[in-house]
Formats: sequence, C-alpha cells, structure tokens
Amino acid sequence: MADRTFVICKPDAVERGLVGEIVRRFEAKGLKLVAAELRTIDAETAGKHYAEHAERPFFGELVEFIGRSPAMLIVLEGPEDTWKVVRTMMGVTNPRESAPGTIRGDFGLLIGENLVHGSDGPESAEREIGIFFPGLA
Ligand code: RTP
Ligand code: MG
Repeated sequence: MADRTFVICKPDAVERGLVGEIVRRFEAKGLKLVAAELRTIDAETAGKHYAEHAERPFFGELVEFIGRSPAMLIVLEGPEDTWKVVRTMMGVTNPRESAPGTIRGDFGLLIGENLVHGSDGPESAEREIGIFFPGLA
C-alpha cells in the first residue's frame, strides 16, 4: 500500500541551489516523486499550512520566509510511514543540533532557514497535500 507525504524545499534551499541534492537523497533512498512544482507560496496559503503555529512569536517571520522566493513543493511516495522516513532524513528542527548525514545537519545552521519541511504525521501529510496539490488523486 503506497503511502505519501508532503515536502517543501524551502526558499533558502532553492536560493542556495540545493534542490537537486535534496531530491537526489530522497530518490536514492527509494522514494518516488509523485508531484513537484516550483511555486512562490502566498501568505494565505502559508498561514493555512502553518496554522498550528499561528500563536507562536515567530509566526510572522515564518510566513514571510516561506514566501520570500520560490519553493520546491514535492509529494513523495514510499511503501509505508513515508512521512517518518522523510523526517529522519531531514534531521531535527534546529540545524545546529541535526545529526551529520541529515539534510539539515549537513547543510544548515539557522533554525529559521532549515531548508526543508516534511509532514509530521499521516494526517498532516493528507492535509498538506490537499492544500498544495488539491487535484492530486
Ligand atoms: P517544518 O514544519 O518546517 O517541517 O519544521 P519542523 O516540523 O521541524 O518544526 P516546527 O515545530 O513545525 O516549526 C516550523 C518551523 O518554524 C521555525 N521555528 N522557529 N524560532 C524558533 O524557536 C522556531 N521554532 C520553529 C522553523 O523554521 C521550523 O522549521
Ligand atoms: Mg512542522
């Protein structure tokens, strides 16, 4: 049974030319690209996506950052727990603490510019795919 999750190569990753490297890692792991589009995320969509953080002090910065330039929006598919596979490959939220070998651990230093987003569970994956790729079957 195929299992999908949603990934964003955030604006910092696109600006730094790291999209190829990030996608390469997911493909090399065996995950399959189902959808991919370079898109500038508008504030309304960013607010929906990050709704769980609406009351946090960094919410404004988060929305501004995620929309500051184009991001690479991706849906990945694997056999099961794809969201968890992706989160493990991303590393923890703060790149200064992310393990070497993870995307954030290898390429990041700033918590506000941590290169990638990955859904944090099956329900989030379904919700986020619906926001960004509503036409996806
Ligand atoms: P993401 O949603 O982007 O995949 O990241 P995450 O699950 O690892 O982290 P989450 O708790 O969902 O936070 C979303 C994004 O908000 C920024 N953040 N800043 N200043 C802070 O303390 C702080 N905490 C979180 C990060 O950029 C994080 O990716
Ligand atoms: Mg999150």
